[in-house]
Amino acid sequence: MTALRPFPPDLTTALRAARHVAVLTGAGISAESGIPTFRDAQHGLWARYRPEDLATPEAFRRNPRLVWEWYAWRRDLVSAAEPNDGHRALAAMQRCVALTLITQNVDGLHQRAGSTDVIELHGNITRIKCSADGRIVSDWPEGSEIPPPCPACGAPLRPDVVWFGESLPQEALEAAHRAAVTCDVFLSVGTSNAVVPAASLPWIAAESGAPVGVVNPTMEGQRAGPGIHLLAGSAGRVLPQLLREIWSDVPF
Ligand code: OAD
Repeated sequence: MTALRPFPPDLTTALRAARHVAVLTGAGISAESGIPTFRDAQHGLWARYRPEDLATPEAFRRNPRLVWEWYAWRRDLVSAAEPNDGHRALAAMQRCVALTLITQNVDGLHQRAGSTDVIELHGNITRIKCSADGRIVSDWPEGSEIPPPCPACGAPLRPDVVWFGESLPQEALEAAHRAAVTCDVFLSVGTSNAVVPAASLPWIAAESGAPVGVVNPTMEGQRAGPGIHLLAGSAGRVLPQLLREIWSDVPF
């Protein structure tokens, strides 16, 4: 296996001195756990399915059963998956430096790898909520009705994820924005940067003066520029190497 080092010295110097690191992750970090990304040309979910049929409030109103079953399939994929070295390296980094972990992923793999206080911008697929009032529901009647009805009001239940056309959770977005503005270093890992507002976070960090490290095997669509360091490779390889280079004594 080829070594990725040396990393750009400007980035490693900034990481060694950093008091606060912010990290944004996307579907790419979970690819090595076997969870499909969205936009990879061959196997990405949006290469096989149309978001407007499955991931909008209108789609749910039109065909709630189809949407529920698609998310149930994805929930099963997630529960069968395990965190990989990329998730584990970020959990280890959190033991070395104040680290704000912001994710667009709904799979909960960061938390299962040991990360805490994860800011989930797009919700979590394992949580279910009432489609009428948004209340989180942990038990529902298993019966013939799909989606199951809310035990409190009878409205159809839905996954607690953000669909196209919906707003991101305000508190999470504000915390993510604050971290981008105040961090000393920002890492953008496994995201195509195609969906705002998450996609703008690395550029907000860069404009606020933080060096940005971009971890991605393809770098397709990634912006380059002063202070932006492209670390080509998979998250499962690059993040552990970065961790060992900067915090060599951390158990991982
Ligand atoms: P995408 O599928 O758009 O992008 C995944 C990125 O991960 C691509 O840039 C890949 O090159 C990269 N990648 C693939 N394998 C990788 C690996 N092993 N290590 C590191 N990177 C790898 O996924 P997101 O950017 O997360 O939103 O997509 C953003 C949002 O669009 C999602 O949260 C979802 C989707 O529609 C909603 O559902 C609201």
